[in-house]
Amino acid sequence: MWPQNALTERLSLKWPIIQAPMGEHTTPLLAAEVSRSGALGSLGMWGFSAEDGARRIAGMRQQTAGSLNVNYPLWGDPGDLTNTAEDMRATLQPLYDNKSLGPVPQPSASAGCITDEHLDMLLCQRPEVVSFHFGLPSDAIIAALKEAGIFLICSATTVAEARILANRGMDAIIAQGTEAGGHHGFFLGDKITTRPSLLTLLPQVVDAVDVPVIAAGGIADGRGIAAAFMLGASAAQIGTAFLRCPEADITDGYRAAMRTTSDTSTEQTDLISGRPARAIHNRLTRQLAESGTHPAPFPAQYGLTGPLEKDDDPDYLGLLAGQAVALTRDMPAAELVETLASETSACLSAFR
Ligand SMILES: Cc1cc2nc3c(=O)[nH]c(=O)nc-3n(C[C@H](O)[C@H](O)[C@H](O)COP(=O)(O)O)c2cc1C
Repeated sequence: MWPQNALTERLSLKWPIIQAPMGEHTTPLLAAEVSRSGALGSLGMWGFSAEDGARRIAGMRQQTAGSLNVNYPLWGDPGDLTNTAEDMRATLQPLYDNKSLGPVPQPSASAGCITDEHLDMLLCQRPEVVSFHFGLPSDAIIAALKEAGIFLICSATTVAEARILANRGMDAIIAQGTEAGGHHGFFLGDKITTRPSLLTLLPQVVDAVDVPVIAAGGIADGRGIAAAFMLGASAAQIGTAFLRCPEADITDGYRAAMRTTSDTSTEQTDLISGRPARAIHNRLTRQLAESGTHPAPFPAQYGLTGPLEKDDDPDYLGLLAGQAVALTRDMPAAELVETLASETSACLSAFR
């Protein structure tokens, strides 16, 4: 009943379940425990040098021979932002003052890209999968990775985006619904309100492309995975639920906030990083929204809100999480994979 397909066969997966890459939250230990359990573990590369990236991959490899996905969110250089976002800096200053953080810094940011050093590192380390978010790198980088036998995947939030990714050679496409925690991986247009949820996006992407489709967004238990398979998915990518694993690197305040959530605890906001992301709403997101102030360009806004996280106060953390956050459980990663697999099997058997 479980969908065995090009993706599970090529990546030697027992379970078509992918632990989503989530930047520094996704540790080598988390990815190793997930892969050891027969699912696909992922490491986020956001913010890591090629040297650190290689170290993270080696750390995972030391613990398991299972498959690994290495992830790159990609965005353009916002340019020199000095003396911009003055309104946002003025809005944040009283919050900084309450925490004795001094003056709000000047906004600054650089591009998110696959540098030559990262490309060399990937060609040397050869993770089984490389994934992208917010669109694709150059054709030359795609060709080099493919030539090395690396399986390539990228997030799409609409059918049009999925078609572009298929035409540019992705081996599988992640259909990311608006329920998803973290940043929405859109790269066409900027209107977030018209983008579909997973229930509607997934079958339309499955109909539109000829490569395996991975469902992402709001899946936290076997019911969600089974539903995704019913809609044509070849695998499910799950982020928020894996944040609750002790192997994930999140603060005590973040963990505590996740434990006291409900179905209405999250919202889409660009006020944490400068780009729409789904997060648990808290005092920070409410105060910034009420101020009506525009954020600094992505990801410079992170540099303005980040210092407020210093004392791990859940009211002022950027709590990226998806709409299924209240369904998530405190559980070691290996146990979570086993639980998700047995819950899914039970759901699929009920429809035999
Ligand atoms: C805290 C957090 C950080 C994330 N960071 C990344 C990232 O760096 N790269 C990426 O491709 N996706 C990232 N995502 C999105 C996931 O890949 C995935 O689409 C999402 O977690 C699925 O929805 P769910 O959280 O409801 O399971 C992140 C998600 C969360 C919750």
